[in-house]
Amino acid sequence: MPPPIWLMRQAGRYLPEYRALRNKAPDFLGFCYAPELASEATLQPIRRFGLDGAILFSDILVIPDALGQTVHFRQGEGPILEALDGDADIAALDPGRTRRHLAPVYETVAAVGATLPAEVALIGFAGGPWTVATYMIEGRGGTDMMRTRRWARETPASFATLIEALVEATTEHLLAQIEAGAEVVQIFDTWAGVLAETQFDRWVVEPTRRIVEDIKAARPGVPVIGFPRGCGTLYESYVRTTGIDGVGIDAGVPARWAADVLQPACAVQGNLDNLALRAGGAVLEAEARRILATLGNGAFVFNLGHGVLPDTPFENVARLVELVRGAGAP
Ligand code: CP3
Repeated sequence: MPPPIWLMRQAGRYLPEYRALRNKAPDFLGFCYAPELASEATLQPIRRFGLDGAILFSDILVIPDALGQTVHFRQGEGPILEALDGDADIAALDPGRTRRHLAPVYETVAAVGATLPAEVALIGFAGGPWTVATYMIEGRGGTDMMRTRRWARETPASFATLIEALVEATTEHLLAQIEAGAEVVQIFDTWAGVLAETQFDRWVVEPTRRIVEDIKAARPGVPVIGFPRGCGTLYESYVRTTGIDGVGIDAGVPARWAADVLQPACAVQGNLDNLALRAGGAVLEAEARRILATLGNGAFVFNLGHGVLPDTPFENVARLVELVRGAGAP
């Protein structure tokens, strides 16, 4: 049996039908909060490629928006937030608004669930508290996250109140997606890899463990996938301690190591280099086959090590799906 396959950022700018749809709402958050547009964006890659998982079209930064922070997306520039600047800004955040503010996201989940073929898994998601905190404190992406890392290191009690608010909002957000029909949820901790070991335990592992615990208490049957990108050998303690059911690994994790060390403890998801997908041809084929040969005998979900790049030829995604399903020429 071939493993299931879906891809992080499988919806997005590399698809012409996405670019056409995206033009209908100039504002990116407005697009995420329009159930008709967001459900269509979720379904586009399923229609085109017949993937096994449909990830909700939304963004990790809907959480700061729900908490009351000002969030904008500027064309070509990525997200811009009114950066948090101290305890008063943290105190002003209100996790109690999450479900009400993000109601359109749950409408999207329900709309997708109503049309999705039964054999395709509907995947909900949220950012990990650490990663979301970096955007809230830096005010944008693309920094070395020094402000956030120093805040966490030098005034941990203050930083803990922010993480606390994020744990609460994230748990509510994931549970609401599950109630609306999400069958699996993934926690994207994209910037987990910049932390020192003890900081990783405190700001990535422990918050994730609490989120998983609360989801398991309310919805024991729903698998939770964690993606602490770039954390190297710390993946091992993350898997052991958080209680997640599946772990997303980045392209830098040796597949053999993941098969030996992680796969006995939980399902592994990954880890094709998104540049190999972009390159296509023999490079794509060799890398996909290597990963399948190494991880394909245990609990495994085929995915990338990080999201599809916007300039990826969409034909390469079709070819990858064919390869993974075993339909490709040997
Ligand atoms: O995976 C999917 O197809 C579902 C949709 C999804 C988006 N963002 C849509 C999006 C998901 C799961 C995300 C998660 C996300 N968002 C992460 C974690 C995963 C990762 O890629 O590391 C992060 C860090 C963000 C924050 C974010 N959103 C950034 C930094 C940017 C700008 C960079 C960029 O690619 O433009 C976004 C915008 C964004 N989110 C776009 C999409 C399709 C592009 C905006 C557009 O279409 O104009």
